[in-house]
Amino acid sequence: MNTRFLDACWGKPVDRTPVWLMRQAGRYLPEYMAVRSKCTFLELCKTPELAAEVSIQPVDYLGVDAAIMFSDILTPVEPMGMKLDFVPGPVFENPIRSMADVEKLRIPQMEQDVPYVLETIKILRRELAGKVPLIGFGGAPFTLACYMVEGKGSKDFAQIKRMMYAAPEVYTALMEKITTMSMEYLNAQIAAGAQCIQIFDTWGGILSPADYERYVLPHTVRLINGLNRMETPIIHFVKGSGAMLNTVKKAGGDVMGLDWHVNLGAARDLIGPQMAVQGNLDPTVLYATPEIIEREVKRVLAENADRPGHIFNLGHGILPTVPPAHAKFMVECVHRLSQK
Ligand code: CP3
Repeated sequence: MNTRFLDACWGKPVDRTPVWLMRQAGRYLPEYMAVRSKCTFLELCKTPELAAEVSIQPVDYLGVDAAIMFSDILTPVEPMGMKLDFVPGPVFENPIRSMADVEKLRIPQMEQDVPYVLETIKILRRELAGKVPLIGFGGAPFTLACYMVEGKGSKDFAQIKRMMYAAPEVYTALMEKITTMSMEYLNAQIAAGAQCIQIFDTWGGILSPADYERYVLPHTVRLINGLNRMETPIIHFVKGSGAMLNTVKKAGGDVMGLDWHVNLGAARDLIGPQMAVQGNLDPTVLYATPEIIEREVKRVLAENADRPGHIFNLGHGILPTVPPAHAKFMVECVHRLSQK
């Protein structure tokens, strides 16, 4: 079994820098499109054999050091009582706007309401045995709340921010309910066999550092403190957090995910040696020539300067129009250039 990824999560020395790509299972891979052409995205998420198949595709093709289970951060929100569709971005028919809406939300029974997620994890652990570790994941409470309140993606996040500032009691009740759900959901993934958990806070960076600390941090702290994580490292990725790394660090977790707006070395100096980091190549670098891809991989590795506890990744998800061969070349570069 390749333990490079888990070792790096715990800050242990490794023979070469482990690498995987956020959103590595997905539309840029023709093998994914072939499976996806036969069903909807939600059907794919709810069919464990297929979800496991597309989770393994990038492991075989790219040669990455970890697999991430195929699902979506919004999968457990549907059984809370929200009608979900993907077009391809997520859309909720009945967004949350009032205390009555929050009160109607239920906390799913994970074994009964999302059995397909737990079954996908069990299949993947069997099929990945002796290969690479399996990452489970969930959305951070704030990012889930953004979609649940806006009803879809947003440019200005006016609805969630209006609720946060103008109806704080509704906002807090919603965040508490989502946090409880997430804790049970991620603990169920750990119990089913996930060997690492990544928490995606894609929209945490739309707030000022002060508002992040007041409105988001307490909930993420409660979530991370509530996870059964003795042997399961937690990666916390807050996109756009470069100007508030000290605050995000207070959320806890073992690995901090970094986007490409920060110098990885400067971020590590600030965070300190007790936390590992993951990142942080600009995803659009994968459109570049091999020379530029190699130069940029080299630069990120140089910023880390051989410190233990670095997992190489993109600074956000891989884009659907990236040529798969470029992603594979990037993975090869990371392994070749970091070989001890
Ligand atoms: O990383 C992986 O390979 C595992 C699969 C995974 C998906 N979504 C599959 C997916 C993961 C980890 C996610 C997380 C996710 N989903 C996030 C956090 C990470 C991030 O990118 O910021 C967010 C914000 C979502 C919500 C979401 N789901 C959006 C905005 C979209 C549409 C646009 C897009 O980026 O693809 C989705 C749909 C989705 N989730 C697809 C996939 C492969 C495409 C659906 C399709 O096949 O039609």
